[in-house]
Amino acid sequence: MVTEIKENRMPVSCPGFQDYDILFESGFDKLAKSCRALSEQERKVCIITDTNVEKLYGTAVKEALEKEFKEVYFIAFPAGESNKNLETVQKLYTFLIEHKLGRKDLLVALGGGVVGDVTGFTAATYQRGLDFVQVPTTLLSQVDSSIGGKTGVDFTGYKNMVGAFYMPKLVYMNTDVLKTLPAREFACGMAEVLKEALIKDGSFYGWLINSLYEIDDQEPETMKILLYNCCRIKKQVVENDPKEAGERALLNFGHTIGHAIEKAKDFELLHGECVALGCVAAAFISYQRQMLTFDEYYEIRDMFVPFNLPITVRDIDPENILALTKSDKKVEGSKIKFVLLKKIGKGVIDTSVTDEEILAGIKEIYVSEDDLRE
Ligand code: GLY
Repeated sequence: MVTEIKENRMPVSCPGFQDYDILFESGFDKLAKSCRALSEQERKVCIITDTNVEKLYGTAVKEALEKEFKEVYFIAFPAGESNKNLETVQKLYTFLIEHKLGRKDLLVALGGGVVGDVTGFTAATYQRGLDFVQVPTTLLSQVDSSIGGKTGVDFTGYKNMVGAFYMPKLVYMNTDVLKTLPAREFACGMAEVLKEALIKDGSFYGWLINSLYEIDDQEPETMKILLYNCCRIKKQVVENDPKEAGERALLNFGHTIGHAIEKAKDFELLHGECVALGCVAAAFISYQRQMLTFDEYYEIRDMFVPFNLPITVRDIDPENILALTKSDKKVEGSKIKFVLLKKIGKGVIDTSVTDEEILAGIKEIYVSEDDLRE
């Protein structure tokens, strides 16, 4: 069921972890006081961001935090998934040591999914853990990666292979930041939005279809409803299953084939674009198993198009993509934990998907040179 924003605070309570709030605010004005309220102690703050976000919000966020904290440090690492690695984490450790940050101090992750994952992992491991706050600045990180405490880095080309479940103390969503988001980044966020609706909420999916033009125009009230409902879905999933023993794996819908394409393309395509491709392939497999009708499959496939997301891919070797799906983390023993759609709004985890089915899904989205000549 689609809900309006009832209040600007959404508490998240994951068993075995500390509770925290997601705040929905316009602007960064309330960030400093919200961070200050986390602890009575005087503490140093270090903002960690990337070189893109630094240009947009670096000064504003630093100045805002300086109103409440005496010592605010700032470090930006080069933007991009290729920097989500241990080398970046090592540079951050060095910076924190040089500025004498300790366990009682606070890190602020200002940026998209890469910044959040890297900062969260740094927070989880530096001196065995210090507090961190997520300030997500992309649609993708606001609807997905900033909530639920998954932190980590890629390792020798394997996505998110090294990491920790480590919850933020606060997620501060400035709903105004989406205005400055490049179109390609916005599209990538929409891939995760559609994914969440497809696996968990058919009525939200229907609302997304009906709100297509308003979303495309980024109409502020529509975007707030979109954000709030995605956070509601994500919150429910991570509260039920914080460490991905079961239900949380549904959030990997589209990610098994998506991650394989991301790796094969050497990160030339963005994460959300690969997720869109993976969702189409997984919906096709669901259709082949007669879990979805042909019309439902086509509607899902076509829903990615108005959001400028790819539904076909060139220059890949389907057999190679199949092989790469096996090296993903979502493999238990020799079985891939594949997410299919039982119906629109209901994802299911299935370990019986065969290589032939996966290959058929990959071929469904693959456009070969022969196809192009025809
Ligand atoms: N982004 C997937 C998850 O949080 O589990």
